[in-house]
Amino acid sequence: MGGTVRMSMRKGSTKARNGIVATLDLGTTKTTCLIARVDGGVPRVTGIGMIGSKGIKAGTIADIDAAEKNILSAVQAAEQMAGETIQGVIVSMTGGNLSSRVAQHELSIDSHEISDADVRRVLEAGRQNMEPTDRTMLHTIPVGFTIDGSRGIRDPRGMYGQRLGVNMHVVSASTSALKTLAMVIARCHLELDGVVAAPYAAGMSVLVPDEREMGCTLIDLGGGVTTMAVFFDGKLVFTDSVPIGGGHVTTDIARGLSTPLAHAERMKTLYGAALVASADEREIIEVPLVGEDDRLTAHHIPKSILTGIIQPRLEETFELVRSRLEASGLDKIAGRRAVLSGGASQLSGVRDLAAHILDKQVRVGKPQGFHGLPVDFAGPAYATCTGLIAHALQPTSEPAKGGRKTSAVAPTGMIGRLGLWLKENFLSSII
Ligand SMILES: Nc1ncnc2c1ncn2[C@@H]1O[C@H](COP(=O)(O)OP(=O)(O)OP(=O)(O)O)[C@@H](O)[C@H]1O
Ligand SMILES: [Mg+2]
Repeated sequence: MGGTVRMSMRKGSTKARNGIVATLDLGTTKTTCLIARVDGGVPRVTGIGMIGSKGIKAGTIADIDAAEKNILSAVQAAEQMAGETIQGVIVSMTGGNLSSRVAQHELSIDSHEISDADVRRVLEAGRQNMEPTDRTMLHTIPVGFTIDGSRGIRDPRGMYGQRLGVNMHVVSASTSALKTLAMVIARCHLELDGVVAAPYAAGMSVLVPDEREMGCTLIDLGGGVTTMAVFFDGKLVFTDSVPIGGGHVTTDIARGLSTPLAHAERMKTLYGAALVASADEREIIEVPLVGEDDRLTAHHIPKSILTGIIQPRLEETFELVRSRLEASGLDKIAGRRAVLSGGASQLSGVRDLAAHILDKQVRVGKPQGFHGLPVDFAGPAYATCTGLIAHALQPTSEPAKGGRKTSAVAPTGMIGRLGLWLKENFLSSII
């Protein structure tokens, strides 16, 4: 059952907490490699490599040779800056048909008092790979216990029942997409140290702990994909994606105004806005026509026409995000806060448009708590890459999955402190 992709490290490990962590975000628009030195759990970024991506479509590898070149260039630049060589990378997954579901596992416990051993057994059973072979689990996050079907139990030890159950939030990806990723990483002579769902990583970077505790939705507006992650009680409880990103906005502008893609991208970042402003009618912008290099043939349009192209695409994106959140049933739990990340969240007015459509308080997030991050890399576009470091450093994260069957129920040392671990790891009120 379930696909297998070889990975070599466990998150929250000593290696991550007191050594080097290297991460790779293979995005549709850019490929970023970060190297961080970790001392006592505090990450200091020592190397950064960033290159425009080629051969990545909607977060998925579409051209192996191009993807390999992206990775080699980004890794080499990061290594050069850090002055050291890395052996492996933790990689984000944006495409690969990420899916999120809650799986229930139950054990018969014969009406005896529930012990530590029973809890460990049910957690272990819950982490067995129950996905079909074309899917591989990336994350298995326990979100609540049941006793004889009664939900919402935080710590079942000392209670009595016939059946002890655990609800696991399982995030999985397409096995073939993961195998392709693993093969490309191997071609770059690197080990695949772990794979993390991209919006999960972004949430670990830009949300403050209180937001993850009280309930918050992270929405990453990338170049080819918009991904979302709902956090509650400190944990990831839902993730999904919509195959629309900033690249679609650029294409709409290029088509709508018959202008070259490079110029459409420039117009978007310089003059683009998600909402029409009253002065837009008066502000005139020059639009060179595709195939014409003569400035005399360029069109001149009011800025409102540009905004009129951008706004509907972003409205469509946020409406799709809203319907995915509503369909998950977790929208209410996620509370009234949403945080935006990703390059496209930098477009003027996007925060207000999101707040209007999602009916939430919205802010644009930036990576939090990283020493040594240059200002150019401290913006929302670098949420995922930095979040991979934050995820690796979680002291109570679930064991890394995605390949090797693991018999561990919790990171080393956690089993002996099961009470504390339960306290830190369980939602009491939902699912
Ligand atoms: N200042 C800006 N204003 C508006 N849009 C911007 C700005 N800077 C970057 N973008 C847009 O952000 C998008 C890229 O975002 P990002 O770097 O997060 O994508 P990615 O991680 O490579 O892609 P994905 O996550 O979809 O695989 C592009 O469409 C780009 O046009
Ligand atoms: Mg991205």
